[in-house]
Amino acid sequence: MCGIFAYIGHEKAALECIKGLKKLEYRGYDSAGMAGFHEGALRFVKAAGKLHRLEEKLAESAHNFSSAISHTRWATHGKPTENNAHPHFDEQQHVAVVHNGIIENHVALRHEMVQQGINFSSETDTEVIAQLMGLSPTGHIVEKVSYVLGRLRGSMAVALLHKDYPDTLIAFSRECPLIVALDPITGQAMIASDSNALPSMDLDITYLGQDEIALIKKGEVLFFDKAGKPLHKKQERLGHDMHLVSKQGFDHFMLKEIFEQPDTIRAAFMGRLNEESATVEFEGLNLTPADFLNVKRVLILGCGTSYHAGCIAARLLEEYARVPAQPAIASEFRYQNPIISPDTLVIAISQSGETADTVAAVREAKAKGATILAICNIKGSLLTREADSTIYLKAGPEISVCSTKAFTSQLTVLALFGLYMARLRHVGRDEGKRFIQELYQLPQLVMSVLEKAPLLQELAVKYSRYNHFFYLGRQAMFYTALEGALKLKELSYIEASGYPAGEMKHGPIALLDEDLPVIAFACNRQTQDKLLSNLQECKARGAPLIVFAFEGDTDSTSLATDIFHIPSTSDALAAIPVSVASQLFAYYTALARGTDIDQPRNLAKSVTVE
Ligand code: M6R
Repeated sequence: MCGIFAYIGHEKAALECIKGLKKLEYRGYDSAGMAGFHEGALRFVKAAGKLHRLEEKLAESAHNFSSAISHTRWATHGKPTENNAHPHFDEQQHVAVVHNGIIENHVALRHEMVQQGINFSSETDTEVIAQLMGLSPTGHIVEKVSYVLGRLRGSMAVALLHKDYPDTLIAFSRECPLIVALDPITGQAMIASDSNALPSMDLDITYLGQDEIALIKKGEVLFFDKAGKPLHKKQERLGHDMHLVSKQGFDHFMLKEIFEQPDTIRAAFMGRLNEESATVEFEGLNLTPADFLNVKRVLILGCGTSYHAGCIAARLLEEYARVPAQPAIASEFRYQNPIISPDTLVIAISQSGETADTVAAVREAKAKGATILAICNIKGSLLTREADSTIYLKAGPEISVCSTKAFTSQLTVLALFGLYMARLRHVGRDEGKRFIQELYQLPQLVMSVLEKAPLLQELAVKYSRYNHFFYLGRQAMFYTALEGALKLKELSYIEASGYPAGEMKHGPIALLDEDLPVIAFACNRQTQDKLLSNLQECKARGAPLIVFAFEGDTDSTSLATDIFHIPSTSDALAAIPVSVASQLFAYYTALARGTDIDQPRNLAKSVTVE
């Protein structure tokens, strides 16, 4: 959460920072701010609200920064006001700081400094970093930063400017991502929270590690450990074509990402399926088939949408590979003193690879001896560095805060993993081949759902006046219902609950009447009859019934108030086309209600706080 971008190179540092922040706004958009050197003096501009407010104020200020740090905020400590917007300063205004993360001991530090007579001007935890920098003993800037790092507890990615070092950007990090990039030709240098924010040019990039410090000048980057000892760090080349992000003519990133799914699903399985041996070959896996054969239990960790993918995968692994598999919400798992044996495989799912709860849960599992397999979209992210091995989604950047293509890529990769585990165990070649054929069909199935987007828009408009929804399903469709309800909630601010259809009669059915539409996902053949009975019960209470059912399902059609047909596939893979349809339903509902689709209120793309 929160995006950092800093630039040094030419006189248009403010413009470069705005370009960078625009690509980071998905990480938080409560306020934005920038500080830089204008004619040798440290100046700043801040604005509450979205980035365009900062742009407007910058245009008025006529600052011409030669180097600058900037920030887009997701509020943790203190309201989203201009005063709490970053950068924050020490009392003398010698140091400007932007920060992503949480300083856990900020109350004690603030108290200590107030006792010394220091005046604070914001409610944020970040300000203690700036004030500490101001108080740090005299010496070289690296010594000052070492001192501050030693005093701070918690997580932090920090970029700062110091009045005595106008030609230097200073950065340090702990548990939060921060990338340092250098253009080897022009010498322009940048700091960014993620590589998508960097300009499209060939850059040498370096990820700052735990408690590492960087001093960045035009044409030169120096790294130090927390004791101030110089470090030699490996650089990676980021090609100019590797980080293009645009809406490509769509009204929203979300819609573009929904429509990308035939391609992203294909990318998730392409080159990984071995038809001859009816199995899967994941590139760059550090774990051997013997390691996977030794696995006696699988735990699947994730948050939000990634957790829902984990729930669906756990069912698939148990059913096809016959390995006990349990999903767990990472934020709960990390505090429950989990029982883990050496033959437990932990699969951690995260689009961003930055989710603090997921990373912390992985660390807990690792400490207890588990092997960690990450399923992730972002190369080099924190999670992939913690894991023993990673399978990448290859879905490309997902910019919309609401996750869509990452979810279906997660489901696809997890289905591949299920096939791999099943083939290692008891599943024969013929069954494996059949599963591969079904996987190959997925892009086409998704395409046929997308072609019917206008029908989903009609449905969404028809129901957009309702303020509550129930999403029902059984087996994998129950988890798909949880995901469908999450999409509707976060996009349109409509209260929506996902529920196992069979549980309705144990209480929630009391809520039903003609003002509470039920969306039922009827794409699980194994439980179809039971689901239909549950839907009859809902209908008898007057609830409007919107059913997503396989083509040719006449029973559902005759029961439903409105029906949407999903092309036929197996129960194991049905969550994918059904989810695409429910993503579109949520998108069009939000469109009808006029909410902020790519950046829903109160949310951020990467949740890097607990
Ligand atoms: O990056 P991650 O997959 O770890 O993110 C997990 C959740 O924060 C994320 O899926 C969130 O629930 C989305 N906003 C859902 O659309």
